[in-house]
Amino acid sequence: MTDLDRRGEAARREAVHGLPAWTYENAELLALEYERLFLGSWQAVCHVSDVAAPGDYLTFDLMRDSILVIRDRDGALRAFQNVCRHRGARLLDGRGRLSTRLLCPYHGWAYHLDGRLAAVPAEGTFPGLDKTCLGLTEVQLDILLGFVFVRVAGDGPSLEEMWGAYAERIAPYRPEEMTALYPPVVQEWACDWKTAVDNNQENYHIPVGHPGYFRLLERGGDSFGNRYGVGGSVSRHRTKPSSNWVERMYQDLAPKVLDHLPEEKRTLWQFFSMLPNHGIDVYPDSMDFFQILPLGPGRCQVRVAAYALPDARREVTLLRYLNGRINRHVLDEDRWLSERVQKGLRSHGYAPGPLSVIEDGVKELHDLVRAACPVAALPEAPPPGAVARRDAALRAERAAAE
Ligand code: FES
Ligand SMILES: [Fe+2]
Repeated sequence: MTDLDRRGEAARREAVHGLPAWTYENAELLALEYERLFLGSWQAVCHVSDVAAPGDYLTFDLMRDSILVIRDRDGALRAFQNVCRHRGARLLDGRGRLSTRLLCPYHGWAYHLDGRLAAVPAEGTFPGLDKTCLGLTEVQLDILLGFVFVRVAGDGPSLEEMWGAYAERIAPYRPEEMTALYPPVVQEWACDWKTAVDNNQENYHIPVGHPGYFRLLERGGDSFGNRYGVGGSVSRHRTKPSSNWVERMYQDLAPKVLDHLPEEKRTLWQFFSMLPNHGIDVYPDSMDFFQILPLGPGRCQVRVAAYALPDARREVTLLRYLNGRINRHVLDEDRWLSERVQKGLRSHGYAPGPLSVIEDGVKELHDLVRAACPVAALPEAPPPGAVARRDAALRAERAAAE
């Protein structure tokens, strides 16, 4: 959508307002959001190169759930609930490599790498034990462009279906062949997951909030989106050199060095997002995923993991160093801005202001939240203990009206 389209759209539409402030810090609503938005959505865990060898595993924590992604000896990648089928102990932490079996740290139940229960100490003491029914609980795993995603519960479209032609835009960068540039950055932000996602869903804040991006990239790049909540925007390097040496050097080097890409892609920055909580950024020299996970009401975890094609050339290393500096600044700025918004939302008497059509991505998230949890549309919070009940009543009303 161009700037001109946006003006036409704004003139045609009624004013749109965001979610009420109470929804950004409410434990009961978060429990509903978790059930209805997170458990059934694809969540990025890692890249295939992070679990490349047989026995490689990696755990992924999502509120009260923990998922284990593990590569079997025959190369198959699977995901399981990271929980023992005996008395529920969490099995593994972090990442590592298993040589043969996965051993529960509590009583030593042993699982094959494909999840089957292999051995139980003092097996004869369990009346009627059937080991074939007690394998690890498998959860859905899907791979998009080399990135490994899991869906904890429920069903829905595959990533291929959701991303459609957008994936083809990324394919020329050969993301499947990439490896991690550095260990994932994991931060706890003092804001609700929605505050951080709101911020990631719009570019309106770039000229003021991210002076570096503003110097480096053209304004008002094209934005796009589809019915699966996948969308984004693209920007190109400005032809005017940035006044900052880091950005200027990046602008200068990228077109010269990245000869594996067609020329037009060497200056192109693509920012994809997938609701409810992901970004996938494709830079000329590398790419990353950006994931915002709820930790509690008004608290979230931000994970950023960057990947690139193996390339030891000095100029490429320098380019990636420059990108790292630019994007670390952007991350710090986004954190600072999001935490400031969270503080502002707590103020007495604050009511959400109008949204620009440039902030349609924010509206899209809010529409998703209101569709999943109609209680989120109420201007005031229901009394403590009543959020789920009120939500159920609103859902019933909505179903009756349909
Ligand atoms: S809880 Fe895992 S062996 Fe007992
Ligand atoms: Fe930002």
